[in-house]
Amino acid sequence: MSTTVKFLTKNFGQYDTASIGSYMNIGGFTALRQAVNMNPEDICTLLSEAKIRGRGGAEYPLGRKWSQARAVQGENKIVVCNADEGETTTFKDRELIKNDPFNLIEAMIIAGFVCGATDGYIYMRGEYACYRPLLLNAIRQAKNYGFLGENILGKGFDFNIHLYSGGGAYVCGEGTALIRSIEGKAGRPRMKPPFIKVSGLFARPTCLNNVESLSLVPHLLTDKETYMNCGSGESIGTKLISVAGNVNNPGVFEIPFGTTVREIIYGLAGGVQHDRKIQLIQFGGASGKVADSSVLDTPYTYDDLRAAGVMVGSGGLLVIDERTSVLDFLRMNQEFFSEESCGQCTPCREGNLHIKIILDKMAHGAATSEDIKTMGTIARVMSMSSLCGLGETAQNTLQSAMKTFPDVFALGGTNS
Ligand SMILES: Cc1cc2nc3c(=O)[nH]c(=O)nc-3n(C[C@H](O)[C@H](O)[C@H](O)COP(=O)(O)O)c2cc1C
Ligand code: SF4
Repeated sequence: MSTTVKFLTKNFGQYDTASIGSYMNIGGFTALRQAVNMNPEDICTLLSEAKIRGRGGAEYPLGRKWSQARAVQGENKIVVCNADEGETTTFKDRELIKNDPFNLIEAMIIAGFVCGATDGYIYMRGEYACYRPLLLNAIRQAKNYGFLGENILGKGFDFNIHLYSGGGAYVCGEGTALIRSIEGKAGRPRMKPPFIKVSGLFARPTCLNNVESLSLVPHLLTDKETYMNCGSGESIGTKLISVAGNVNNPGVFEIPFGTTVREIIYGLAGGVQHDRKIQLIQFGGASGKVADSSVLDTPYTYDDLRAAGVMVGSGGLLVIDERTSVLDFLRMNQEFFSEESCGQCTPCREGNLHIKIILDKMAHGAATSEDIKTMGTIARVMSMSSLCGLGETAQNTLQSAMKTFPDVFALGGTNS
């Protein structure tokens, strides 16, 4: 029943992650050598043919992003690797950093070459401090071997990588907040425009990508066929997912797109503990959406999940069994957003708080139908008028729960 594939994860356990020589023995830096002999625009075309969508959650096409980054006028462009991984239930990027650090470094150099950048920054969440020595060592060794620094591979291309650790705020995964954090300012989002592709880190044109999006590139350059043979339609290739919650075997799995949700939960993740019933499944972390078990036979693809009312998002998948009520789950999710809102704009700061109060009232049997209506209105206003993606998506879970579990919101219902 279980379907996994080794494309993005094929280097895991195959080399000594502290040694560039060991990485090169399994073909490391072949993709970079290949890339610098290609027309950068052809690399963007390859990414577009593979239909890679950003793996950080927003699902923006990678080939288009790199092509736009190339086209932006400006000196000393920057590529940033978003290794903040603050979305709840999402822990896949950590596996890529831990098990294949040289591939990430190689990917960033390729990104720098394609986008015409001179510097790369890795912004890694504070909680991943234990992986700093691994990455710093990989950067140092890549520099010693001439893969970083000046005139890389004799192609007149200069590029360096810097590592920065965040302080552990969820909002710092948002592009403009992340940039301010690296600049030494408070990690708070700013209004756009200017977009970061035009004026980002240190006011330089900046291309921001997730760890998994970047990590795919060297593999795609050297083994396009395997990737293209997985999945179909708009969801080609493989996806790294992290499964958490009440399952027997939580963890990170690389699946070909098209694997069903049932195969993921009952095959790879070993099924629900003690064969309990599934209460709900949350896709894409706290800012994602929820479904009930009717979603089990849905293939894990962008289009099929969307049609089922959920999303790929960050690749997190949380299984909650029948012991937790939908309402308690929503209160916990809401607690997260009330804590993590940076408080800068009114819809998100006040909206998150107000929704939390109404959910608590519901739990105490004190909510009125007017409260429920107000909660729906606040959720809609937040998604339309918040300053950044945090406020815009904070109510995805609530709004999808209102559709999926109408009984919970019909006062006096059974599932509250
Ligand atoms: C509140 C918030 C938190 C985010 N956290 C992350 C994160 O931890 N990692 C990530 O890659 N993207 C995160 N994103 C999405 C990024 O803003 C951005 O879309 C992404 O890094 C772009 O890379 P991609 O196109 O490769 O996905 C977050 C967005 C928001 C609004
Ligand atoms: S939406 Fe929320 S997190 Fe984003 S700027 Fe406004 S208050 Fe801060």
